[in-house]
Amino acid sequence: MPLRPDGIVIAIDGPSGAGKSTIARHLAERLGYIQIDTGAMYRAAALLLAHAGVDLGDPAAVETFCQNIDIRLELDSGRQIVRANGSDVTDQIRSPEMSLLTSQTASLKPVRKALLKAQQQMGSRGGVVLEGRDIGTVVFPDAEIKFYLSASVEERARRRCEEMNSKGEAVSLAETVIDVEKRDLQDSEREIAPLRQAEDALLIDSSRLSIDEVVKSMEAICRQKIDNADPLP
Ligand code: DC
Repeated sequence: MPLRPDGIVIAIDGPSGAGKSTIARHLAERLGYIQIDTGAMYRAAALLLAHAGVDLGDPAAVETFCQNIDIRLELDSGRQIVRANGSDVTDQIRSPEMSLLTSQTASLKPVRKALLKAQQQMGSRGGVVLEGRDIGTVVFPDAEIKFYLSASVEERARRRCEEMNSKGEAVSLAETVIDVEKRDLQDSEREIAPLRQAEDALLIDSSRLSIDEVVKSMEAICRQKIDNADPLP
């Protein structure tokens, strides 16, 4: 199997709170690959739509708006920066309100169309770890490795709650469980590119595993694939 110019494409899909971002970051660091957090791109698009006051019920208005959005992921001293139409929105896109709004805007066709194209371009040379909901099914159905990372609702809510509290945002476990369930439902029941495990994806349940254990086992699988792949002629 020939390599893409910069390496293989690694897809990590799964529901919110399964640890995808942290795991994708560690895995990319260990392999010397670029991490592409597609959820951050959907969040940035939601923020731009909200700030511009675009009527989400008007497909033509959403489409026109999405044709001119510019969302970039940049690295600044090892930290990933999300830039939306030139502004750094890295922190703003992480609030619980933005999470719920993003889940809603991510179901809109023009939003998905615009971001799909951008993500395919960003990953086309390989050497990337893309994480999201539809990477293995829609964005890169030909990815050399696909993982589907999951964990129980309770465990995912507990992790999300801890993360928010550590950032000084007081949220309760009970309300986080409700948020996680709501987003799961919105993400997996939408018409376009719903969250689902690709047939050829490896399922990893991280409920009882540490981040390090998950990353190590994924790294071993990836290295084997990379070592066995032929370079481009
Ligand atoms: O991974 P995250 O929680 O930052 O994702 C934010 C939202 O974006 C979530 O509701 C699912 C959606 N999303 C998506 O629909 N497709 C992707 N490839 C990535 C995220």
